[in-house]
Amino acid sequence: MLLLAVFIPEEKISEIKNAADIVDVVSEAVLLKKAGKNHVGLCPFHSEKTPSFTVSPDKQIFYCFGCGTGGNIFSFLMKQQGLSFPEAVRALGKRYGIDIPDRPLSPEQKKKISEREKLFDINRRTMEFYHQALKSSAAGQVARSYLQKRGISQKTIDDFKLGYAQQGWDNLLNHFSKKRISPVLLEKSGLVLPKKNKAGYYDRFRDRIMFPIFDASLQVVGFGGRVLDDSLPKYLNSPETPVYNKRRSLYGIQRAKDKCRSAGSVFIVEGYLDVIALHQHGVENSVATLGTALTPDHVRLLTRFAGRMVLVYDSDDAGIRSARRCIDTFWKEHVDFRRQDVYREENADTHILVLPAGHDPDSFIFEKGPDLFMEAASRAPGIITFLMNCAIEKYGLSTQGKVNILKEMQAPLAAINDRVAQGLYIQKLAERLGIAENAILERVSEVAAHITKRGFAADAPAAAADSLYRSGSVKPASEGQHSQTEAIGNRFERQIVAMMLQFADILPEVVKLNALSYFENKTLKNLGEYILKSDPTSVDRVSELMSRADSDQKQTLIASLSMVDESWNMKGCLRLLGKFVENGQKMRDSGVLEEQIKAAEQSNDHDLLLKLLNQKQKMAERSEKQKSAALTEK
Ligand code: UTP
Ligand code: MN
Repeated sequence: MLLLAVFIPEEKISEIKNAADIVDVVSEAVLLKKAGKNHVGLCPFHSEKTPSFTVSPDKQIFYCFGCGTGGNIFSFLMKQQGLSFPEAVRALGKRYGIDIPDRPLSPEQKKKISEREKLFDINRRTMEFYHQALKSSAAGQVARSYLQKRGISQKTIDDFKLGYAQQGWDNLLNHFSKKRISPVLLEKSGLVLPKKNKAGYYDRFRDRIMFPIFDASLQVVGFGGRVLDDSLPKYLNSPETPVYNKRRSLYGIQRAKDKCRSAGSVFIVEGYLDVIALHQHGVENSVATLGTALTPDHVRLLTRFAGRMVLVYDSDDAGIRSARRCIDTFWKEHVDFRRQDVYREENADTHILVLPAGHDPDSFIFEKGPDLFMEAASRAPGIITFLMNCAIEKYGLSTQGKVNILKEMQAPLAAINDRVAQGLYIQKLAERLGIAENAILERVSEVAAHITKRGFAADAPAAAADSLYRSGSVKPASEGQHSQTEAIGNRFERQIVAMMLQFADILPEVVKLNALSYFENKTLKNLGEYILKSDPTSVDRVSELMSRADSDQKQTLIASLSMVDESWNMKGCLRLLGKFVENGQKMRDSGVLEEQIKAAEQSNDHDLLLKLLNQKQKMAERSEKQKSAALTEK
């Protein structure tokens, strides 16, 4: 299957939307029961025992009240089957008999695509070649006994299509020359190399156990090969090719992705054999990075399949390095994304699992079994807690130890810029060290100021930390499941946007009162502006808004806010809007306080800052009370 990002005409998308029914499509994957106007079932995107996955035939959207996943018919297919948007459109077109013409490709595009196709084809045939050699050739006996010695079952060999590259310099070359495939193309695939004297080629992989690497859509992108003894290098890997990029690839993703979805979590390990051993013991939601640290591309790929990520390491040191890198990644990601003005869906919940000394996941699960592995995993701390534990362990609680711990924790803590989450962590650290919160806060703002100077946008730290906060590395005060919307903005603002989505008659009033100008939450405000641009008379306005949304987060947010059922009427809506604007006006008046806070931050006046923040919090609490009073009155 080709992943073509070809243009699909707008009218075809509408045609499909008119023909297709979301209840039909979802029913193929989820057992739905009618409940009032909606249908409900067990969510396919996280594991649950009572149904909170809701489909609305009227609005043609779905939303899970448990995990906060939502969207329209296209996003359902995209999420459920891991398709791209054009692929989802095509799949529905096919199902409803709507023909979608391809836009003609430029000769250059054609060449690129056909080269990629050829490389995928060569990789697949190579995989078959090595797999057969492992299974049935006489020469494969050494490899068969090696794998047997490692406890790898026949089924696992088949599941992962393991293979054997025999001894000799030209086995693969000869195989393909019989099939009239040019060595030039083979060289591009990385499977053969040119000889030094340029007279011909030789096989890259010789006398190695072969691990084909797949992408999520089951194409073979590259290979790893392990020696059968202690010689070096232990592993040889495919080089980067037009179809293989190790920063984007995850070993085992093809078999892990469904399980990641149903479990809602993924284990990220370091080695080929770690993945294989985990799968063989039933821990199938496992993948490995391929000789690199976890990259933002990996994270992005995985968030399509799982919320909770558990990074598994064989030592504290590796864990610490990786935890720090993760913090950096979230941080940088956010800054980049802001520049592009795209919102990032960062709902990953990241944990670090360090196995007992001397174990990697492979040896651990063979020796102790899957239950102990899962038990250890369930206790794996979030990133910040992990770093805190490590620092305390490393330095001890002497006076000097505490000083060192503080030094080590100040940067990670500064990266959490959600004030509440940061405050909670600071409080936790203060308790564990038996020192004043104030002292820690001081250290943390030093770093934060430094980071701002380094050129991050002034509010970037807030966003970065917000990501950590939502990533679950930093848990909010109340643990447990939060739907995504719960975390965004305040109730009042959410209510207004929900109203705008569900009751289009109110839109002119929203414009007239300039209600959006009072929004504090940028995401919600941005969504409000987006709604104002929509056609209020369109019958499938909500689904339309989703299709055009430029990010997954926006889509999900639209779904959640559209699904909360309210019986809107003009009178109630006007009242809600009026209260909101009145309240906003009050808040605006208190803007002076904000200015003072900023000034205190800049001049590093911590005592004043604390006082002002306190004041601000009191004020926020007061207005929150008023807001909820207003809401219940409605
Ligand atoms: P390890 O040395 O931990 O190997 O490397 P392993 O996966 O546990 O394999 P066994 O159990 O000794 O057979 C972890 C990963 O690092 C990459 C591979 O992806 C490997 O799975 N690696 C390691 C290389 O790419 N090249 C090497 O020479 C060594
Ligand atoms: Mn190992």
